[in-house]
Amino acid sequence: MLANAVGMLKKAKDGRYAVAQININNLEWTKAVLQTVEELKSPVILGVSAGAAKYMTGFATVTAMVKAMDAALNISVPVAIHLDHGKYGEALECIEAGFTSIMFDGSHFSIEENVEKTKELVQIAHKNGLSIEAEVGSIGGEEDGVIGMGEIADPEQCKLIASLGIDFLAAGIGNIHGVYPPNWKGLDFDALEKIHNATGGIPLVLHGGTGIPEDMIKKAISLGVSKINVNTECQLTFAAATRKYIEAGKDRESKGFDPRKLLTPGFEAIKQTVKEKILLFGSDNKA
Ligand code: 13P
Repeated sequence: MLANAVGMLKKAKDGRYAVAQININNLEWTKAVLQTVEELKSPVILGVSAGAAKYMTGFATVTAMVKAMDAALNISVPVAIHLDHGKYGEALECIEAGFTSIMFDGSHFSIEENVEKTKELVQIAHKNGLSIEAEVGSIGGEEDGVIGMGEIADPEQCKLIASLGIDFLAAGIGNIHGVYPPNWKGLDFDALEKIHNATGGIPLVLHGGTGIPEDMIKKAISLGVSKINVNTECQLTFAAATRKYIEAGKDRESKGFDPRKLLTPGFEAIKQTVKEKILLFGSDNKA
């Protein structure tokens, strides 16, 4: 059942658990996520980056696929289709294409410009029934082989952006996208607490969910995080399972080269990863 993310995150905030944003890349990814959340009776947010959408031939293709699959699989749990780290123009395109939620990432702009653009998009998103996420303090990660450590968001800037009517806020607290380097210092919980206190109870979003230790995830949820994004971890488990299949020579046995067979171990691996995340975040049976 397609929905925006307002209701599911309000419930999560009140119930002290987090809803997973799982990024999708193709049909197999989408099917694996939808089947798993239905089995676990969990709400979910399907994250779609502009790059992933381009790979799938555009935002409209993504909406059409998710809508049709949601109906074909009789999905009863709430499912949001959410733009991940969108630019201004991409956010408008997603609204047009039938997404139910958007993220505008203005963290690279000056705070004045971030405020300006976020404010405009809040109006447009809400007029069209979508939820909207904004970001303060950019999330680090690997770019051209260099791993950026991620900023710690300023609580005053978070307060300002939260006051614009956004539905949930991504704030950098030392989290980064991709695999954490061995010298990573961990999440900055003092910063999280300050941001939580400054932003009046708005649901907070933790990006870079791959590889954050379980105790840190639980502590983050206790300090106001209601949405946790996971992308790389599904890619890694998908790749490992596919590698195992090929290295075992299974693609050479009988019709093992058939994509419906070759992609099955990776598909099952995504399901397993999504299940682990949902149980850890505590959103099972919360649909
Ligand atoms: P990971 O790829 O580190 O799981 O982060 C995902 C994310 O934050 C998407 O916005």
